[in-house]
Amino acid sequence: MATAPTLEQALTDQAAQRDAHLIEWLRIPSVSADPTHRGDIQRAAQWAMQRLVQLGLKAELIETSGNPLVFAETPPVPGGKRVLVYGHYDVQPADPLHLWNSPPFEPAFVDGNIVARGATDDKGQLLTHIEGLAAWLATGRTLPVQVKFLIEGEEEVGSDGLEQWLPQHAEKVACDVVVISDNSQFADGQPAITYGLRGIVAFELFVEGPASDLHSGVFGGAVLNPALALSRILASFHGPDGRIAIPGFYDSVRALSPQEREQISQLAVDEGQLCRQLGVSELFGEPGYSVLERRWARPTLDVNGLTSGYQGTGSKTIIPAVASAKFTIRLVPEQQPEEIAKRVERHISAVAPPAVRWRLERGHGAPGMLARIDSPSIAAASRAIERAFGKRPVLIREGGSIPIVARFQEVLGADCLLLGWGLDDDRAHAPNEKFRLADFHRGTRASAFLWEELGNVC
Ligand code: BES
Ligand code: MN
Ligand code: MN
Repeated sequence: MATAPTLEQALTDQAAQRDAHLIEWLRIPSVSADPTHRGDIQRAAQWAMQRLVQLGLKAELIETSGNPLVFAETPPVPGGKRVLVYGHYDVQPADPLHLWNSPPFEPAFVDGNIVARGATDDKGQLLTHIEGLAAWLATGRTLPVQVKFLIEGEEEVGSDGLEQWLPQHAEKVACDVVVISDNSQFADGQPAITYGLRGIVAFELFVEGPASDLHSGVFGGAVLNPALALSRILASFHGPDGRIAIPGFYDSVRALSPQEREQISQLAVDEGQLCRQLGVSELFGEPGYSVLERRWARPTLDVNGLTSGYQGTGSKTIIPAVASAKFTIRLVPEQQPEEIAKRVERHISAVAPPAVRWRLERGHGAPGMLARIDSPSIAAASRAIERAFGKRPVLIREGGSIPIVARFQEVLGADCLLLGWGLDDDRAHAPNEKFRLADFHRGTRASAFLWEELGNVC
């Protein structure tokens, strides 16, 4: 009789298949922002469910008010911990398409990376946990913890369906720890555990002037140009030094403790290298804070899209009838989206020029999160990562947002372990998104070790 492989053997033996699975999933263009991809959303959810069924898990698709959830679980372990793995099968739109070196949904191997939309965000990172479990199950040993999966399809558009579903089904997903890999390592060669994320609140501001576009020669001088009015409003959001100038904006923001500032300052940042990576001549941001503090632990406001007037080739001399801007605010965990939205609205009321009409629409919002850094589960994750990456992870915060994490803390009362296997230069949301294959495989190993390490801290 063939003996069951050790965990190490199983991890090695399954490597080629693991790549094949990732490729299959990445080929499904599950773009949540675009309703024409509804069918692909279904297919991507089905794919995850079937992979979990293949592993022998009890798995189901759950309909929500939005895109379906995939839920699966291993049998309960009496007296053992329950771990909930969360991630998302939806991806950002692929455009601008012409900037991709290969088609976004035809995964390509380039320099040790897999290039495709969703490679790092989040199919590749999430799949490490499914594959980590696959390796464990191949050993025939009993899992020391119960593993549940909750995989959603609306993370990139605000997680509404999951948010409505969660409170009524808290028992189903009840757990001691939530594990998420939808973020980044600190740097190439330096894995990390993330204990904080920023929240977000999204807006679209519409400014309307004349009833239709006007000839700018005939009427220039008679009316206020909506594009200029919008620019003035947008410019009023910040002082020249980069501090946000919306009254009361920083009221609820807690000062960083000297200990945390000290800890962050221990993490080396090569600012010149960062400038080169980003293609800028210098960095910019709120005075008095280091670049990591500004990206991780201070609130920011950014314009994400601007629309007005003629965008075609050549010139067209008009005063556009309308102008609009999409902008988002990143919140520190102490700031509540509703409170900040009110302040933004009040500020625009105060500064908007009376010669135009305006309307502010609010999009998705979610608070940020901060996890305890002294929990036994962080210690367990740290050991698992050290075993897989050969290096002890550092503790970091990150600036991105995962809308549902604060709700997990609130509704489930569970610790959140954010174990990012990605890199800052993975081009998430951008053309040529990639995930390094070595990180895909190391992440899978760390995940397999994590079940064991978590089992030891019951
Ligand atoms: N995976 C990211 C969030 C992230 C990125 C966390 C980097 C930490 C580091 C997630 O898929 C994402 O893009 N979130 C959106 C949320 C929004 C669309 C509601 C974000 O942060 O913009
Ligand atoms: Mn993500
Ligand atoms: Mn994303």
